[in-house]
Amino acid sequence: MISYLYIIILLIEVINTSTYLLPASKCPREDSLRKCLDQHIKGTVNYRDDFFSYNTDLNVEYNQRIIYFPVAFVRPIDVIDVQNTIKCGAKLNYPIVARSGGHSSESYSLGDRDCYLVIDLITLNEVTVDITSQTAIIGTGNTLNPLYYAINQYEFAFPGGLCPHVGVGGHIMGGGMGLIARRFGYASDSILDAQIVLANGTVVNNVKEHPELLWAIRGAGNAGYGIVTSLTLRIYPIPKTVAYHSFTYDMNQIPSLISVINQLGYNLHQNLTFATAIFESQVHVNGIYLGPVDELQLHMQEFIKLSKPKSVSYIEDDLYNVILYDSGSASNHSDFKIKSFYIDSTGLSDEGVNYLMKFVERFKCKIGVDFSLIGGGVDKFRRNETAYVHRGFLYHLKLKAFTPTEECLQDLGMFSQNFQRKYTSYESYQNHIDRQLDNWQCRYYGENFGRLVEIKRKYDPYNLFRWNQSISTNTRISCY
Ligand SMILES: Cc1cc2nc3c(=O)[nH]c(=O)nc-3n(C[C@H](O)[C@H](O)[C@H](O)COP(=O)(O)OP(=O)(O)OC[C@H]3O[C@@H](n4cnc5c(N)ncnc54)[C@H](O)[C@@H]3O)c2cc1C
Ligand SMILES: *[C@@H]1O[C@H](CO)[C@@H](O)[C@H](O)[C@H]1NC(C)=O
Ligand SMILES: *[C@@H]1O[C@H](CO)[C@@H](O)[C@H](O)[C@H]1NC(C)=O
Ligand SMILES: *[C@@H]1O[C@H](CO)[C@@H](O)[C@H](O)[C@H]1NC(C)=O
Ligand SMILES: *[C@@H]1O[C@H](CO)[C@@H](O)[C@H](O)[C@H]1NC(C)=O
Ligand SMILES: *[C@@H]1O[C@H](CO)[C@@H](O)[C@H](O)[C@H]1NC(C)=O
Repeated sequence: MISYLYIIILLIEVINTSTYLLPASKCPREDSLRKCLDQHIKGTVNYRDDFFSYNTDLNVEYNQRIIYFPVAFVRPIDVIDVQNTIKCGAKLNYPIVARSGGHSSESYSLGDRDCYLVIDLITLNEVTVDITSQTAIIGTGNTLNPLYYAINQYEFAFPGGLCPHVGVGGHIMGGGMGLIARRFGYASDSILDAQIVLANGTVVNNVKEHPELLWAIRGAGNAGYGIVTSLTLRIYPIPKTVAYHSFTYDMNQIPSLISVINQLGYNLHQNLTFATAIFESQVHVNGIYLGPVDELQLHMQEFIKLSKPKSVSYIEDDLYNVILYDSGSASNHSDFKIKSFYIDSTGLSDEGVNYLMKFVERFKCKIGVDFSLIGGGVDKFRRNETAYVHRGFLYHLKLKAFTPTEECLQDLGMFSQNFQRKYTSYESYQNHIDRQLDNWQCRYYGENFGRLVEIKRKYDPYNLFRWNQSISTNTRISCY
């Protein structure tokens, strides 16, 4: 029996793991680079000829739609290793990129073509919690899970996303939106300080001593300012148990459901955040309330009366368990394409909902639609207070196509362009990065883009950290 179980587990692992056909040719100056890294790096370095380790490293990348073959994966054990990797790479003219959790939707943590030098931060995985100052210091090799787990023990929370395997590096620095956002804001709003290794190899231990760099990291820290090795975060005391709700609806109720969200969403209690997910003809409205179930029911009374869910269920548990419950069994791999939209405070119009649902019905690949209610605490900040510009919206809308064919990718692209022009705001979320998005500089960073370019020029003047959608040092684009 045990051995059968073991075989089943092994099979699951095999299904979850890809084996790649590696390119036979070497990267330019590869031998010199290897010599430099072998001489100076204390941590592990995996090259293509370490087939199993290199293959395992490729498998970390969540979106298997795009895979590039880096020259090497370096796993620094400290900032000195990061400095030395940058020095070896810069000297031999190798493009360098950081990887935290590998969840970039365009696989940018492998660069934007073969032969990048990847600094995989996985070994920088310390988590230090200080309840007195209500802060946590985390290495950027962590995923959200160890952070949530560590602070939950003290009845503290951090306002990040729900998927526990997402890396803190990309996620927190590019925004970070979850089910306690309306109370505590975006994850990037809670970055207090950071340690970063710059393009010239200098370590900045306290980014807050460079206020403009701190400003940039809070929303664009994953867009090419340096390799961030740790983040100091504000954490928040929360009740010992919180309430979670899950309502279901029929597909034909979607127009009325969205109109109820438009009507009531903005004024709901800030301790309450929910998201509406539409997938495979099922409609769920799931949310968290920082307080007991009976209070949650009170706050949702009007919402339920008007939207008429087919079923309602509630649980009360500690926040950590509730997040695990909501995220379900998140798998390792996927093959997806994402489109992102912010919707103004009046909400998506009936016509917009209709246009969207018609598209979903005729779309030839699997697609998920997700409305995340925002407002509340995320609007405490002015648009230019941090690099994260998107404020004053009612919800964020995400479309996620699974294993899209070329035809589906084109269809999704065309639809999204029209939909954004006709029915949504101009802006999109940089953490759902999309290589095909036109004028992404202004959609991701708005009027903050110009200042981001200035700061980039100062801290990475030779554009060492560059890929298709990093902040450039030199541009004619202006977003005013
Ligand atoms: C399954 C899934 C669920 C998600 N759920 C949510 C959600 O609930 N809420 C939400 O807001 N978003 C969510 N996202 C989006 C997610 O926030 C982004 O994909 C995020 O950028 C991933 O971060 P990462 O560190 O895992 O990715 P990586 O691929 O490792 O990195 C992303 C980018 O950041 C850069 N980077 C990473 N670490 C560093 C560093 N230390 N220093 C400098 N640059 C760095 C990388 O070079 C890369 O360009 C989800 C994505 C997936 C795939
Ligand atoms: C809202 O959440 C905060 C922070 O967790 C908590 O202190 C407060 O009691 C909650 N308020 C209500 C009305 O439940
Ligand atoms: C991938 O899946 C394996 C088991 O199948 C699990 O142990 C591991 O934590 C998962 N990793 C990620 C990043 O999801
Ligand atoms: C941010 O915008 C406000 C006006 O809305 C302006 O007064 C302030 O100078 C701006 N700050 C920066 C850093 O640009
Ligand atoms: C590296 O760049 C930073 C930011 O411009 C600068 O402050 C620092 O002096 C530079 N270090 C060296 C060694 O040039
Ligand atoms: C991204 O960059 C690569 C080169 O690094 C280039 O070949 C490719 O065309 C770029 N893609 C886009 C969409 O700009």
